[in-house]
Amino acid sequence: MNDVIGLIVGTGAVQLELETESRSPTKTPYGAPSSALQRSTVGGRSVICIARHGETGSIPPHLVNYRANIWALREHGADVVIGINAVGIIDPAVLLPGRLAVPDQLIDYTWGREHTFETGDAPQINHVDFTEPFDAELRGRLADAAATLGVGGRRGTYGVTQGPRLESAAEIDRLSGDGCAMVGMTAMPEAGLARECGLRYAICAVGVNHAAGRDPGGGDIHADIAAHVATGMAHARAVLDAVVPVL
Ligand code: HPA
Repeated sequence: MNDVIGLIVGTGAVQLELETESRSPTKTPYGAPSSALQRSTVGGRSVICIARHGETGSIPPHLVNYRANIWALREHGADVVIGINAVGIIDPAVLLPGRLAVPDQLIDYTWGREHTFETGDAPQINHVDFTEPFDAELRGRLADAAATLGVGGRRGTYGVTQGPRLESAAEIDRLSGDGCAMVGMTAMPEAGLARECGLRYAICAVGVNHAAGRDPGGGDIHADIAAHVATGMAHARAVLDAVVPVL
């Protein structure tokens, strides 16, 4: 109950309806985080929050300063970090539009991002163990809350693509063949950096669209996102309200 809770919120953050009580503009050795650190109350408990894509949503996934975001949360005392990440749905047995999943694995398809705090200056290389990329207890709590609320909570593998463009249908077939149930652009390097810092990190993935070529109705991805993001984020907020007070 003494853990400081950090939140990194992404696309659809506004619909989480987090009320900002104070803002601390912050610098880190890696530059500025995506946004000021915003203090909010979730489920009656104070949290510190960063808007991953910036306060106006203008920072694309490949330009997010993931190192500064993780560093700033740690510097402000966070030892638990929950990411809220909008995702495309590859496997509808795991996740449906407007509902939630809690990834238990990931595959990193990104490239060229600043992905580590290791500079090569330390006498020893720190090869962090990433067998389980998400904190098992934290993701279990998120999954249980989602299931209890009836809004999803299955586990699956999150494929992290480079963006900012969406994928081709063949790329989604490849991710599916690799075992990915959902696709997004931001879980890496965020999860790896959180592990390097020793933070307990897990993601509440919000299904906002069928991935490319996967919509049974053959619909438009942007229309799909517009239709489902508000419901999905309301569900994510309900999960946060349930989980944050008991961490
Ligand atoms: N692909 C990648 N990232 C995403 C998607 C998608 O379909 N939807 C939301 N984030």
